[in-house]
Amino acid sequence: MTYIPNQKRYESMKYRRCGASGLLLPAISLGLWHNFGAITPFDTQQKLLRTAFDLGITHFDIANNYGPPYGEAERNMGIHMLRDWKPYRDELVISTKAGYDMWLGPYGDHGSRKYLIASLDQSLRRMNLDYVDIFYHHRPDPETPIEETMGALDSIVRSGKALYAAISNYNAEQTAVAVAAAHRLGTPLLIHQPKYNMMNRWIEHGLIDVLRREKLGCIAFMPLAEGMLTNRYLEGIPADSRASHDPRYLKSSDITPEKLSVIRQLNELASARDQTLAQMTLAWTLRDDVVTSVLIGASKPEQLTENVKALDNLTFTDDELKSIDKALSEL
Ligand SMILES: NC(=O)c1ccc[n+]([C@@H]2O[C@H](COP(=O)([O-])OP(=O)(O)OC[C@H]3O[C@@H](n4cnc5c(N)ncnc54)[C@H](OP(=O)(O)O)[C@@H]3O)[C@@H](O)[C@H]2O)c1
Repeated sequence: MTYIPNQKRYESMKYRRCGASGLLLPAISLGLWHNFGAITPFDTQQKLLRTAFDLGITHFDIANNYGPPYGEAERNMGIHMLRDWKPYRDELVISTKAGYDMWLGPYGDHGSRKYLIASLDQSLRRMNLDYVDIFYHHRPDPETPIEETMGALDSIVRSGKALYAAISNYNAEQTAVAVAAAHRLGTPLLIHQPKYNMMNRWIEHGLIDVLRREKLGCIAFMPLAEGMLTNRYLEGIPADSRASHDPRYLKSSDITPEKLSVIRQLNELASARDQTLAQMTLAWTLRDDVVTSVLIGASKPEQLTENVKALDNLTFTDDELKSIDKALSEL
């Protein structure tokens, strides 16, 4: 059936400026790492994308190797693009990345000019797109000169195949070096995509300072710790959960009694704020406006509906923040 988006989709979502750029991103963005490969029905994927857009989520994040198999999330996005999204292309910010293993041989991994330019060409063909909005180098490559990697991003932006260049998983020092190289080339980096959630706060020790100083945006991936920072695992491991049916990364053994005890304490703190744990977790991740957006995943449209309500209360009292820190200190 022809998709007609919700006319009120821009009324409740909050849009935040990405660093010092002209681009606004929704405070909550949707990633296609899980639930968009060959093992998820097309209809489920379509409902997730349509629900997200109806809620004002305008940013969809992909990578060359999201699947399974590698490339499948982009291939599926290409079909969704033809069926639903072509008329709305200018309302969307679509990102993709290259930097991890993608194809066999020495040219399908890491950070060379050869890999990055070929990979984006492949991604555009799979997604039926002329350009992506943001193209990321997915992880630092200490073996390739940063001038070459940033030079490839610069060429890509100048060619019109991406509107903005970006990096992911670079530490504070690597970020500062990349930002300087990109500046010299004349194509400033737009945004950094690090892992950041209550259980993994590494960016608070240096990276955030660099991003603030250099005026880059920040989109926090895995803000819900793959579902652990929600009510998903409070009563065991549900059969339809990621830890149960797709344990490529989150394994049931990761959900330890110690973590569950902390999650239960956080859940109580969330209830006291009239939020679900997922909502409090996302609000906490957005508490410093250096974080432009939280990049969530979802397996069900209802999760998206629940999660965007986090934006109704993004303020924390000092006591709430202290109680959250105290609970997390037990990890
Ligand atoms: N740059 C990088 O290196 C990198 C690496 C990893 C990810 N990413 C990006 O980050 C995106 C998000 O990663 P992620 O999917 O791991 O993020 P996440 O938001 O931490 O976890 C998403 C999972 O949490 C569960 N969930 C979400 N909302 C829920 C709710 N309201 N109640 C209960 N459970 C809920 C769902 O699990 P169930 O399936 O169990 O329902 C969902 O699949 C990826 O798609 C990708 O775009 C980037």
